Amino acid sequence: MTRRQAIEAGTAAAAVMAASGALAQGPAPVAKGQPLPEGVTLPASPPRAPRPDTVGIAIIGLGDYALKQIMPRIAQSGRTHIAALVSGNPDKLRQVGEAYGIPPAARYSYATFAEIAANPSVEAVYIILPTGLHAEWAERAFAAGKHVLCEKPMALSPAECTRMIAASERANRKLMIAYRCHFEPFNRAAMDLTASGTLGDLRLIRTEHSYRLGPTTPASNWRVNRALTGGGPLEDYGIYGLQAALYLTGEMPERLSASAFRPADDPRFAEVFAHVAVQAHFPSGAVAQIVTSYDSAGINMVEARGTKAALMMQPATGYGGNTLVVDEGRTSRTLEPGDPEVQFAAMLDHFAAAIRDAAPIITPGEMGLRDMRLIEAIYAAAQSRRMVALNPDGTMRG
Ligand SMILES: NC(=O)c1ccc[n+]([C@@H]2O[C@H](COP(=O)([O-])OP(=O)(O)OC[C@H]3O[C@@H](n4cnc5c(N)ncnc54)[C@H](OP(=O)(O)O)[C@@H]3O)[C@@H](O)[C@H]2O)c1
Repeated sequence: MTRRQAIEAGTAAAAVMAASGALAQGPAPVAKGQPLPEGVTLPASPPRAPRPDTVGIAIIGLGDYALKQIMPRIAQSGRTHIAALVSGNPDKLRQVGEAYGIPPAARYSYATFAEIAANPSVEAVYIILPTGLHAEWAERAFAAGKHVLCEKPMALSPAECTRMIAASERANRKLMIAYRCHFEPFNRAAMDLTASGTLGDLRLIRTEHSYRLGPTTPASNWRVNRALTGGGPLEDYGIYGLQAALYLTGEMPERLSASAFRPADDPRFAEVFAHVAVQAHFPSGAVAQIVTSYDSAGINMVEARGTKAALMMQPATGYGGNTLVVDEGRTSRTLEPGDPEVQFAAMLDHFAAAIRDAAPIITPGEMGLRDMRLIEAIYAAAQSRRMVALNPDGTMRG
């Protein structure tokens, strides 16, 4: 098979996948405990007792991101603490519970989760489960009377996002999406640079979020299992580039085109796309090129080019180590606007301020819904190989 034929075969397979509902749900996924991820370091001694006035949060899903990134940093938040844990793996639940000083009565399984309604020390839950489980567990948390912080992407479809927002409204509880870059100093500085006109009129945004997945299958890895992940790298990693295009332009695209590729005979991509490339056109005339891949050498990059200057970030949206250079033609400046590390605590404190002070949420469920509408439009454009026109709320026109 020639390269050209392989590409055609992949594109055709991708189109079939999209037509069969790349964003639709397969059989409803089920929450199931998993082993302790490799490389986790648990605290040698439980953190200090929390201040009583801080918001008690139950962590749902003790996976890689929860155990390596979020839980170790919650102590940096001045307004939240871990009040409970929810896991489907009893041994891991006990081990993590002991390490973080969470009493057995505040450790729940997926089967006993509803009992959390009777625990007044838990005011909110933080959903850190595979994406296909976000909607169901948000609804369960709202039914238990808790506020919800939900990992990105919000869910698998606009319909699921709408259900989550409705459940939040019915329960009169907050819903926030954990888009941490809105709280990260380098990304905030980039937003300020574009909003203040420092770059002039924005013309081009380029983003790339890619890495190469090792050998894996849909049965062993939820990130390549369509019912748990959606279409693949776009929802998981490319969403950072999509978000950046929106927060740097401050606009919604009015039309977009896209392509999605899935190589034939690769078990990693039996159910998801390997690469997605998007070109989005904004009312101001700015164009964003958003590329994401699960099968190319790693990159995490955002660039915005205006009529006066350009900004470059690489890495752009990491947990740490982000960089920001402003290129003004003859001169370039390297900015150090702060420590990216603060993004986690700042996000949690923002959630607490919404709960305690009724402060408006800057990354609400409506933002997650907006992004999921755009992702749906991207797959529709890739499938039809046509430009898709958009309404200002991200829904497809016509
Ligand atoms: N914002 C960010 O920078 C960032 C980074 C990475 C991940 N995330 C998001 O965080 C969420 C979790 O990602 P992760 O990397 O932590 O995943 P992960 O390491 O695979 O952990 C997911 C956890 O969810 C629970 N789970 C319940 N049902 C499951 C099922 N059917 N299959 C697999 N796991 C199941 C398990 O916890 P128990 O064993 O305790 O039940 C599992 O350990 C996703 O929404 C992802 O997009 C965000």
